[in-house]
Amino acid sequence: MNYTLHQLKVFYTVSNCGSYTKAAQQLGLQQPTVSEQVSTLEKTFGLDLIERIHGGLRLTDAGKVLYQSVQHVLGVSDDLGRIVEQLRGQSTGTVRVCADTTVGTSAIPDVISKFQRLHSGIQIILEVVNRAKVIERLEEGKVDLAVMGRPPDLRGLEVEIFLPNELLMVASVRHRLAYQLKLPLSAISDERFLVRESGSGTRTALIELLETVGIKPKIAMVLSHNEAIKQAVIADLGIALMSRNVLEQELKLGLMTILDLEGLPIIRRWHVVSPPGKLVSPATREFRQFLKNYQPNSK
Ligand code: PGA
Repeated sequence: MNYTLHQLKVFYTVSNCGSYTKAAQQLGLQQPTVSEQVSTLEKTFGLDLIERIHGGLRLTDAGKVLYQSVQHVLGVSDDLGRIVEQLRGQSTGTVRVCADTTVGTSAIPDVISKFQRLHSGIQIILEVVNRAKVIERLEEGKVDLAVMGRPPDLRGLEVEIFLPNELLMVASVRHRLAYQLKLPLSAISDERFLVRESGSGTRTALIELLETVGIKPKIAMVLSHNEAIKQAVIADLGIALMSRNVLEQELKLGLMTILDLEGLPIIRRWHVVSPPGKLVSPATREFRQFLKNYQPNSK
């Protein structure tokens, strides 16, 4: 049977109005077009649906039965329209994400890859910079979302908890303190430290940790990349505070060891941070929700 949704809508409106003229006004059509649509539908179904009686209109018995089904079909069609609109709004667009160096090079690429398998129309533009630069981007309102360790104290930021971030003190397997148990923090007071550039959240965490016992660290090298720090640790050029997120392979392969120090590991969280006063696009909302529900071991 070859009928259209439009014909069903015309039939439905005429039934509700009890008049071709009123239905035509409601639908913004000419009266003859309305009656023509109804009569085409009647021909297609091979049934009389509406009859003229005492100068008015009324539904035939077949028309009454079909009226219920047509009402249902039009309801489903409305829902479909809403779903399509919603999907359109959510499945396209660009989200500018800024992540701090550590989370941006460890967890985030996998998150984006999984997200884009589900939302191929949403483009994620990722910028990876250190904590201080992430804060700058938030202040400038140049990003839709940021993923970072410790969120700054800025008014109006919306902050949600993301994955755990465990900070460990790592050393070469040849280090004099390797494999010693329950060391006080004072045991590393004379160590040479491999630190990230200033502005790094990990560097700040190290300085704050050592300050608690009055240690002013001797800095052996400043390296802006976690990769470079790992190589220097493996080569026994110093010890470093690093996130477990970036150490998985090296620890698994036994290339370095975790020092068993008091006050360590430091357990922190990554956070998803939205800048204040920014209109949240459906694409951003979708990605933020995805981060909120993210399970690292999911496929
Ligand atoms: P970073 O940030 O990569 O800039 O060191 C990490 C953090 O803030 O924990």
